[in-house]
Amino acid sequence: MITILAIESSCDETSASVCRDGKILSNFIANQTIHEKYGGVVPELASRAHMQNIVPVVDAAIKEAGIHLSDIDAVAFTQAPGLIGSLLVGTQFAKSMAMALNKPLIAVHHMQAHVLANLIADEKPSFPFLCLTVSGGHTQIVLCESPSSMKVIGETIDDAAGEAFDKSAKLLGLPYPGGPLIDKYATSGNAQRFSFPEPQIPELNFSFSGLKTSILYFLQNAGSSNVYKEEFLATEDEKKKFIADNLNDICASIQNRIISILLNKLKKAALQTGVTNVCIAGGVSANSGLRKALQETGEKMGWQTYIPAFQYCTDNAGMIAITAYYKYLNKDFTDLSVSPSAKAEWS
Ligand code: KG4
Ligand code: ZN
Repeated sequence: MITILAIESSCDETSASVCRDGKILSNFIANQTIHEKYGGVVPELASRAHMQNIVPVVDAAIKEAGIHLSDIDAVAFTQAPGLIGSLLVGTQFAKSMAMALNKPLIAVHHMQAHVLANLIADEKPSFPFLCLTVSGGHTQIVLCESPSSMKVIGETIDDAAGEAFDKSAKLLGLPYPGGPLIDKYATSGNAQRFSFPEPQIPELNFSFSGLKTSILYFLQNAGSSNVYKEEFLATEDEKKKFIADNLNDICASIQNRIISILLNKLKKAALQTGVTNVCIAGGVSANSGLRKALQETGEKMGWQTYIPAFQYCTDNAGMIAITAYYKYLNKDFTDLSVSPSAKAEWS
C-alpha cells in the first residue's frame, strides 16, 4: 500500500490531500476570500493566509482520510509554477514533514497535475490523450503519452482563458473571480445576441487580449459597436444601465466566444495528432458551458471525452497527490535542498 500526503499552495487555495494506491481518500481545500475586494489575488496576503491555513488544512486532510502520520510513505508538494511566496509556504511545510517522518519528498509541477487530475476518476482516459488545460494563469493543449511524458503543443500568447473570464467580468463590474459568475448569468442568457470576434492565431496557439479590448469598446458604446468610436461613447450611467438590462445575454455571448476559441483549437489538435481521447482540466473546466460543449463536440467528432469531478478542476491537492503517486511508482523523488519556482517551464 502506498499512502501519499500532498500539499498545494501555488496561488490562493491552501489544499491538502491523502491518496492511497491512486485513490483519493481526502481533498481538503481552504479558499482565501480576502482577495475578492481587491479584484485579484494579492501575493503578500495569499502567503500570509497560507501560513494561517496550512496546519489546519493538513490536519483535516489526514483526519478525513482516517490515517495516522506513521502511514504516510511520501510527502508531495507543488514546486512550480505559481506565486513564489505562496509556493514557499507549501514547499517548506512539505520538506519539514518529509524530514520529520524520514520519508521521500516528491516535487510536482502544477500544470502537469491539472492534466493528471483526469486519472483520479475510476473511468480514466487511456494513453495517449489530449488535455486542454484552462486556468487563471494558463491555457495549454497538452499531448500526454504517459504520466511522465507530456508535451505542450499549443498555448496562449497573451491572456489565459480564466483571465479572459475574470477580466471580462471586471469590465461588467462583477467581483473577482468573475469566471463562475459569468457561467451563472450565462445559463439564462442568449449566446447569439451579441457577437465578439474570433482571433486568427496560427498553429494551436490562443489569444484572448483582442476579445478583452472588443468587450471594452462594446461596453463603452453601450452595445452599439465593438470598435472604438468616439461619437458613440456612452456615459457611465448609460453603460451601467445597458449592463444591468442585458447582463445574462452579454455573459452568454462572451462565454460562447471563449468556448468556441478553445474548442476550435482542440478540434485542430485532435485532427493533427489523430488522438481521440480528449480531456479538459484546470479551473475553467468547471464552466458548465465548456463541459457541455466538450461533450457535444466529442459526440460529433467521435472522441472519448473526460472531465475531472468539480473539486479536481480548480486548484486542489488531490491532483498533486495523484501525480505524486505515479512519480512514486517511478521512484522520482527530490532531495531536501529543492526550492520552488515561479516559472512555468516543464521539467
Ligand atoms: O485552476 P485554477 O483554480 O487556478 C489557477 O491555477 O489559475 O483556475 C482559476 C480560474 C479563474 O480564472 C476562475 O475565474 C476560473 O478558473 N473559473 C471559471 C469557473 N470556475 C473557475 N471560469 C469560468 N467558469 C467557471 N465556472
Ligand atoms: Zn491551477
